[in-house]
Amino acid sequence: MVLLAIESSCDETSAAVMVNGELKSNIISTQLIHTEWGGVVPELASREHQKAIIPVVQEALQKANINKNDLNAIAFTRGPGLLGALLVGTSFAKALALSLNIPLIEVNHMQAHVLAHFIEDPKPTFPFLCLTVSGGHTQLVWVTSPLQMEVIGETQDDAVGEAFDKTAKLIGLPYPGGPLIDKLAKEGNPNKFPFSLGEMPGLNFSFSGIKTAILYFLQKETQKNPNFIEENKADICASVQKTLIDMLLRKVKKAMKEKQCNQIAIAGGVSANSGLRSSLQELGAELGWEVFIPAFQYCTDNAGMIAMAGHFKYETGEFTDQDVAPLARYSL
Ligand code: KG4
Ligand code: ZN
Repeated sequence: MVLLAIESSCDETSAAVMVNGELKSNIISTQLIHTEWGGVVPELASREHQKAIIPVVQEALQKANINKNDLNAIAFTRGPGLLGALLVGTSFAKALALSLNIPLIEVNHMQAHVLAHFIEDPKPTFPFLCLTVSGGHTQLVWVTSPLQMEVIGETQDDAVGEAFDKTAKLIGLPYPGGPLIDKLAKEGNPNKFPFSLGEMPGLNFSFSGIKTAILYFLQKETQKNPNFIEENKADICASVQKTLIDMLLRKVKKAMKEKQCNQIAIAGGVSANSGLRSSLQELGAELGWEVFIPAFQYCTDNAGMIAMAGHFKYETGEFTDQDVAPLARYSL
């Protein structure tokens, strides 16, 4: 079964080819235009997808050594994401499926982030808990089968990726700041500036308060020393990163206990964070959990994970009609 998958929900145009569940190519084109604006500009994202989609698909087919006439199905991201961006991938997938007379498979982007764990070994067994952390989401997902998952906790305001990116902006780092905070944090002292924050009840998260806490902290310190940020950048990054990781792992611990589970997986862009990866490994070793962390290229947005979800849907015959439309909001 030869499957082509398309991802266009945010600022990555990506195409992948999967043959019988095995990923053959996964081409990702990241839009650089947003850096100068300090965040993703939806209108520009749509236009960039429009430019990139055909070259990216052609490259994915070429790398996999597949002719478009060999395709058996096309999977695409239906949502959640930026509507204009999703429209590009959706329209392209529909048109290609129509012209080749092959089935179409719609995929939920958040489900695909979880299923990225099934691209390569080692794979978790069901059921397991997945912490999905990205620029738009922070969710604890209880996964009982490839296509059955339930959100048991989530952020009530900002996503943790947003907290990383907004903090980065406050200290003058370009967008997306998450990876830069990660890099600088490696050279800093995580205990230098303790930020204590309130906690949401149950398994939910809140990340809107930390931005304000950091803003006030920086305002206060720069009043005393105008060079405070420059002189303490690495320590600020390390301290903020530690705070965010602690907030995530406290809830993970709670959820694992409630579900009496011993397999934890992480997914989404923020799962590329080296501090989160090592802290989760340490916690797992301490509590006897099996920890699943995807390879870097499957953490951030990519069509390989869309292909994986499409593969499972193909197996169960979950196809989509040609009148399908994308969804900016799309719950699991
Ligand atoms: O999953 P993703 O690629 O796109 C969304 O669906 O949102 O996640 C992007 C988010 C951004 O907020 C980015 O700053 C964050 O993931 N991110 C990181 C790291 N790499 C990406 N945050 C912290 N540390 C990283 N190494
Ligand atoms: Zn994503």
